[in-house]
Amino acid sequence: MTNKVGVIGWPVTHSISPAMHNAAFQALGMRDWQYELAPVPPDIVPQSLRILRDEGGFIGVNVTVPLKEKVMHYVLPDERARAIGAVNTIDFRTNVGTNTDVIGLVDDLTAHGVMLQGSKVIVLGAGGAARAAVYGLAKAGATVIVVNRTQQKAQVMLADLTISANIRSADVKTLDEAAEEDVSLVVNCTSVGLWPNVDESPWITGVPFPKGVTVYDTVYRPERTLLMQQVEANGGQAIGGLGMLVRQGAAAFSIWTKREAPVEVMFEAAKEALAKR
Ligand code: ATR
Repeated sequence: MTNKVGVIGWPVTHSISPAMHNAAFQALGMRDWQYELAPVPPDIVPQSLRILRDEGGFIGVNVTVPLKEKVMHYVLPDERARAIGAVNTIDFRTNVGTNTDVIGLVDDLTAHGVMLQGSKVIVLGAGGAARAAVYGLAKAGATVIVVNRTQQKAQVMLADLTISANIRSADVKTLDEAAEEDVSLVVNCTSVGLWPNVDESPWITGVPFPKGVTVYDTVYRPERTLLMQQVEANGGQAIGGLGMLVRQGAAAFSIWTKREAPVEVMFEAAKEALAKR
């Protein structure tokens, strides 16, 4: 029998996860595994989860927009998912829901040699991606400064994270204030610069980049965002977000299959799938 996994969301047609996971199954000779797209409208989430699990033969699923918060009510969210308020991976054998976006970001930063323990980091944004980033960075020992267009939203996010995950090493500032600090890393968790708005950047014109800073852009389409080009032009380094996407997938792969994921294979498959879009 085929062990099925997949991604639920609405819509899911643009997901590159099938390409990534199916390439991994093929590379490891796992012929009895298959990753499928499973479109699920938001109003029938609990029924759909039950059908996928009990009748569809699914071992587990990834969860994407707009269902990441909603599925929390129908699974057993682990500590990380509860703190972030979003689930992106479910294991139907245990019904545990977790959030591998955090692992994706921290693993990819580590793979690029970025030190987090004792560092000072600016997180741009206060949506779901920012919440996962602040959680992961603070837990890895960084001091976090959150900068967001709507400051109040950032304050609410940090208040939530303090209560849910005891995160105390984070603060909200303006970009001007934050950029003057001894910051070694900036993580863009806004959607600014995402295709097709490739000529937009979340970095306010005229604010100098901290000296020698590294920018991690969670936006991976285009491969080189305007923000990445700006920081490089100012003597800093830039890392695109495709590695985070691949590594959150790799973490989900390991949860379902109990095997180490072939990260390089998944990376190449993701790149190829993106190029075709
Ligand atoms: P996600 O869940 O993917 O993080 P989101 O919840 O829509 O997406 O959050 C998007 C983030 O990008 C928010 O922090 C948003 O800022 P606001 O809280 O002020 O809305 C930020 N963002 C989106 N468009 C922006 C823009 N043009 N300029 C600055 N920030 C922007």
